[in-house]
Amino acid sequence: MSAVALSPQVFSILSGLIEERTGIHYGPDDRALLAEKLEPRALERGFESLLDYYYYLRYDPGAAAELAQLVDALVVNETYFFRERAALDIAIDVFVTELVRAGMRPRIWCAACATGEEPLTLAMLLDAAGLLDAVTLVASDISGKALAHAREGMYFRRSLRALPPDVAGRWLVPAGNGMRVERRIAQAVDFRRVNLVEQAEVAALGQFDVVLCRNVLIYFSDTTVESVVAALARALRPKGRLIVGASESLLRFESGLICEERAGAFFYRKDDK
Ligand SMILES: C[S@@+](CC[C@H](N)C(=O)[O-])C[C@H]1O[C@@H](n2cnc3c(N)ncnc32)[C@H](O)[C@@H]1O
Repeated sequence: MSAVALSPQVFSILSGLIEERTGIHYGPDDRALLAEKLEPRALERGFESLLDYYYYLRYDPGAAAELAQLVDALVVNETYFFRERAALDIAIDVFVTELVRAGMRPRIWCAACATGEEPLTLAMLLDAAGLLDAVTLVASDISGKALAHAREGMYFRRSLRALPPDVAGRWLVPAGNGMRVERRIAQAVDFRRVNLVEQAEVAALGQFDVVLCRNVLIYFSDTTVESVVAALARALRPKGRLIVGASESLLRFESGLICEERAGAFFYRKDDK
């Protein structure tokens, strides 16, 4: 057993604190997984027990900075270019195009963008459709480390595994043993740090025509999903669309949004009133 083992009791209060601050839910079966992430962090910071670490995170004036670092270690940033592309194509070809034709400037938000591959894919597809300059594209994540990577714009094999053949050379330029996103594409995305469970942070971004919140709700409990989706619904303009991951569904929640299916992809539309 390690010097700072995670007992069921301390697991309960630490996982509760993490869920309260980030939404990320750890059930009793996740104790070993959470211990694996917390123990090295607590040891590195010189704590003799995870209970001491808990008190620090709960009450110390330095807690916010420590929690931000801990979040970087806890979150799963798995993502890649052109992931679940069908929904992105429809969002651009149908919703964004309609708004631009009507003389509007659509606002699009990728609400858990990890290391940036999703909003950068959107920027590439918007560019291909001649719409890149006609929209505002905001992307956010809770993880400062993931956002630093996104701003750096360098990607390697794991992120590039589903790249269509015409993309390399067009929007991604070979650099070392990876690829760098072309400057015009990178500059089109406004990266921000936003915690989805902090409703004031979500509200401060204003309203959007398209919100993508993909492959993050799976880490939250149903109660958290309900309150995050309510905040995202408030962040939609009338007729705006919320897009979640292909394996996520909002049908069991009372979101007030109307589900529509197009070419196998699901969209949740805000009423036009
Ligand atoms: C698996 S990635 C999904 C990336 C991308 N949306 C995709 O579908 O490929 C999940 C992301 O959610 C972020 N995340 C987790 N909790 C969050 C929260 N409370 N607020 C904002 N982002 C959060 C993580 O930092 C991580 O980058």
